[in-house]
Amino acid sequence: MTGKDWLVTDDGQYHVCEATNHIEDLTHPYRLYRFLTDLEDVLEQISDDSLRLQAICPLVRRLLDSSSWLEIALLEPDSETGWAVQTLYDEPFFPLTVQLVAWAPGAVSPIHNHASWGLVALLGGQEKNTFWQRSPIPKFPDKIQTVGDILLAPGDVLCLMPDAIHHVEALGDEPTISFNLYGETDYARRFEFNQIQGTAENF
Ligand SMILES: [Fe+2]
Repeated sequence: MTGKDWLVTDDGQYHVCEATNHIEDLTHPYRLYRFLTDLEDVLEQISDDSLRLQAICPLVRRLLDSSSWLEIALLEPDSETGWAVQTLYDEPFFPLTVQLVAWAPGAVSPIHNHASWGLVALLGGQEKNTFWQRSPIPKFPDKIQTVGDILLAPGDVLCLMPDAIHHVEALGDEPTISFNLYGETDYARRFEFNQIQGTAENF
């Protein structure tokens, strides 16, 4: 799987990361449980979220290169909500989110952060990501403004710092499907903008 590795910082700035060490061992499948073991080691050894993402990104690429079963997963967006999630791993007291996510063409997510380090690898479709930053004023302490956007193509990986605010839109004629990985959510830092009420909320 080839593509760009993007890093989005807490203030919504984004840039392509330096090429990470590509780990390739075609003699042994890099199975999900081995990936989770390596991921746990990274999280124990590295506390800085930016450095964590740098270390995790090549592991995700290795996993995806070795896991054709993910590519053929038949995840269809729900016809009513426009999206669907398939959990790939869930263990009590091991607070990681590992999932496939599908969006129907034209679907738009709320504006949100993840309040955790996060990584999204696009497997299919085209996903526009728009980034925001906080620009508080006394009357509107949760005011945000756009920073810019990028169009993810299959093979691209987006690494998100915990306070990076974004929303996604599925472009093109086919659903998007992505492999999403998040750490433990710090709900005190969670931000979601309610586009209907025009208010921001912490969850
Ligand atoms: Fe997100």
